[in-house]
Amino acid sequence: MRVGRRDVMKASALLAASAWAPVAIARDTRDHGVRIRDLLSRMTLSEKIGQMNQIAGGRQKALNSRLDAAMLDRVRRGEMGSFLHVAGAEPLRRLQKIAVEESRLGIPLLFAMDVIHGYRTTLPVPLALAAGWDPAMMERAAALMAEEAWAAGLHWTFTPMVDVARDPRWGRVVEGAGEDAYLGSRMAEAQVRGLEGPVRRAREPLARGRVLSCSKHFVGYGAVAGGRDYDSADVSERTLHEVYLPPFHAAMRAGSGSFMTAFNDVAGVPMTANEALVRGKLRERWGYQGLVVSDWNAIPELISHGVAATPAEAAALALHAGVDMDMASSTYADHLATAVAADASLVPLIDQAVMRILMTKARLGLFDDPYRFGDAAREKAPLARGTARELATRSIVLLRNEGAVLPLKPTARIALIGALADDASSELGSWRARGQAEDAVTLRRALPQAVYDPGTDPAAAARVAANADVVLLVIGEDYDMTGEARSRSDIGLPGDQQALTEAVRGAGKPIVAIVMGGRPLALEHALTGIPAVLQTWFLGIEGGPAIADVLMGKVSPAGRLPIAMPRTTGQVPMTYAHVPTGRPANPDLAVDSARYHDTDIGPVFAFGHGLSYTRFGYAPLTIEPRGDATVIGVVVSNDGAVAGDEVVQLYIRDPVASVARPVAELRGFKRVTLAPGERRTVRFTLAHAQLALWKAGAWMIEAGTIEVMVGSSSADIRQRGRFTVGAGQGSDPAASIATRVEVA
Ligand code: BGC
Repeated sequence: MRVGRRDVMKASALLAASAWAPVAIARDTRDHGVRIRDLLSRMTLSEKIGQMNQIAGGRQKALNSRLDAAMLDRVRRGEMGSFLHVAGAEPLRRLQKIAVEESRLGIPLLFAMDVIHGYRTTLPVPLALAAGWDPAMMERAAALMAEEAWAAGLHWTFTPMVDVARDPRWGRVVEGAGEDAYLGSRMAEAQVRGLEGPVRRAREPLARGRVLSCSKHFVGYGAVAGGRDYDSADVSERTLHEVYLPPFHAAMRAGSGSFMTAFNDVAGVPMTANEALVRGKLRERWGYQGLVVSDWNAIPELISHGVAATPAEAAALALHAGVDMDMASSTYADHLATAVAADASLVPLIDQAVMRILMTKARLGLFDDPYRFGDAAREKAPLARGTARELATRSIVLLRNEGAVLPLKPTARIALIGALADDASSELGSWRARGQAEDAVTLRRALPQAVYDPGTDPAAAARVAANADVVLLVIGEDYDMTGEARSRSDIGLPGDQQALTEAVRGAGKPIVAIVMGGRPLALEHALTGIPAVLQTWFLGIEGGPAIADVLMGKVSPAGRLPIAMPRTTGQVPMTYAHVPTGRPANPDLAVDSARYHDTDIGPVFAFGHGLSYTRFGYAPLTIEPRGDATVIGVVVSNDGAVAGDEVVQLYIRDPVASVARPVAELRGFKRVTLAPGERRTVRFTLAHAQLALWKAGAWMIEAGTIEVMVGSSSADIRQRGRFTVGAGQGSDPAASIATRVEVA
C-alpha cells in the first residue's frame, strides 16, 4: 500500500525521532537548519548518496525520455536527488509525487534544465543580451526565462554562464557576457536577480515564477588554451582574481543558489577536484553557502585528467573539493560508498554536501509544498513576442555606417542576400530549450519588400544586387558553429561567403553587411569596402523584425560590443584591458614593438564600440572626492536629429603601481536615452575598493594617481581626468563591485 503525503505527515508526528519517520519538515520554514539536521540524522548512507546523484531524465532534444519504469523504481528507492533534461508541469508533478509519496523519506526531487536564453520564447543569445549594456534588460530576459521554466515545473536552470572570454575561438563565448570582468559581473548579477528575484532572507522560499540559478563554470573555463573547449587553463593568480573570479563573486552576492564547477583544470588541478578554489576560495574565503554541482560527467573524467586512478578515487577527490552533486555520471552513486569504506573521514563531507542539497530544496520551498513549481495553464501561454523583439532590437550593434547608408530610405529597392537571412533555426542560436525554429521570424519574412537571393550562386546574387539601390548582405555563422564543443581555429568568414561577398561587392551598390553569429568573427578583410555593418548575433524568435526595425530607422541602434572584433584569428586572445609592455605597439614598423608585422594594431572594432543614428557630445568631467570614493560626473548631450541611446563608459587606469596595471579597465557604464538636443548628467560613484589590485593574497589599494577616461567605447575616449587615492585595502574582487550610477 502506498501512503499519501498527508498520511506521511500525520505518521511523522507520531514517529517523531524514529529512524523510519518520513520527511517531517513541512510547513514551518523558520528553522531549516535544525529540521534538516534532524532529517539527515535519519538517512542511511545510501539515501545520502542518492541525494548527491543527479541523473539525466532525458536528452537535450528528447526530454523525459529516460523516465522509464526502472528509473521510477530508483526514485522510490531514494537513489537520486535531482533530474536534468526533464520538463513539463504535468510529467514533473507525477515524478515528484513518486519521490514524495513513495520513497521512504519523501524528499522532493530537484528538476533542472539548461534554460540559457529562453525556455519557449527564445530571446537573443547571452552574448547578444550583454551587447545591450543594460543590466535591467538582462534581468528582464532572465525573469521571463524563469517564469516560463517555472511554469514547466522546473526548479533550476544552469544559467548564468559568467566565464570571462577573451578568446573568441572558444565556442562557448556565445553563452557569456564577453571579455570584461566588470561588465561580466553586472550581467552575472542581473541574470541571478532575474532568475531568483531580489536577494532573499535565509528562510524565505523562492517566489512564484522564479527558479534557482547556477553560476558556471567555476572557474577559468574561458581561459582554456588555444580557445579549445575543455582544454587546460594556466592563468596567473592575479589574472584569476582580477579577471575570472569577479563575476562569480558578483553572482554570489546577488544570491545565486548554486554554482557549477568547470571541466578545465587550472594550473594542473581540475576544477572538479580543486579543493583550494572550491572549498577554500569559494566556500571558506567568500562564505558561499549554496549548492555546488559538477559539470556533466566531470567526476569520472578526473581519471582522464590523470589525477585519479579509479572512480572511487575520483569521487573522493570531488567530494574533498566541495562538489556536492554529481551531474550525470553516477560516480558518487556507484563508488562513494567504496570510497567511504576505505576512508571514514569522508562521512562528514558527505553530510555537509547533503545538508547543502537539502537546504537548497528547503529554500526553494519544496518541503512546504513539493508541487509549488509548474502551472500547466501558464505553460501554454502565448510566446512573449513583444519582449523578445524589444530585447533583440536593443542587442544589435551598428559597427560602421559610412555615408549614412543606414537607416534605409523607405523607397529604396532592397536586395537581401545570404542563406542566413532565411535561416529560422539559426535565429535560435545555441541552447534552445523548448524553442522552435518555426516560431522564429527571419529577416526575409520581416522584409517582404526585399528581393531575396540565398547567395548559393555568387553570380546570380551579383545580378540581384545590381538591380537594387542597396544590398543587405547577411553573412556570418550558423547556430551550430558556436556553443559547447564548437571551438574553431579560424574565425574568419566560414564556407564560401568570401566569394559571395566579393561577387556582391562587384555589383557596385552600397552594401549593408548584417553579421550573424555567436562570436565576434575576424572580418577585417571581408568587410573592406562595405560602408555599413550591423552585428546581429542570434537574436531569437523576433530577430528578423528587430533587424528590420533598425534598418528602417524605427529604432536607433545602441548595442555595444561586449568583446572586441579582431582583425585576424591570429590576434586572439586579445583584450582592451591588456597590461602595457616596455615596448608598446607602435604604428611605425621600423620600431621594434609589441605588435604583429602583418596586421594593424588592435581589433577592427573595439570593446564597447557601437554607433547610433545620432551623435553624442561629452562635456569635461567633474571629479569630486567623497569619503572612500570619488564621484565622476559628465554631461552627455544628443547633438543629432533623432532620439537615441548612448552607452556612457567609464574606464580607469593606475599609471604607476607596484605591478603593471591594464591600460584601461571598465569601472562603470550607463545606457541613457536622449531626445534630440537633450542633455543629462551621469554621475559615477567609484569606491576606492574598486581600484584595488590583487597582491600577495589581498586586495591592495596603492596610494597615487588614478586616471579616468569617459567615452563612447574603449577606443573612443572623449574626456579624461585624474584624482589621487590613499593606500588601503579592499575585501571583494575589485571588478565585482558595482559603481553607483545616477542620471540627472
Ligand atoms: C555543459 C554545462 C551544462 C551541462 C548540462 C555541460 O556539458 O558544460 O554548461 O549546463 O552540460 O547540460
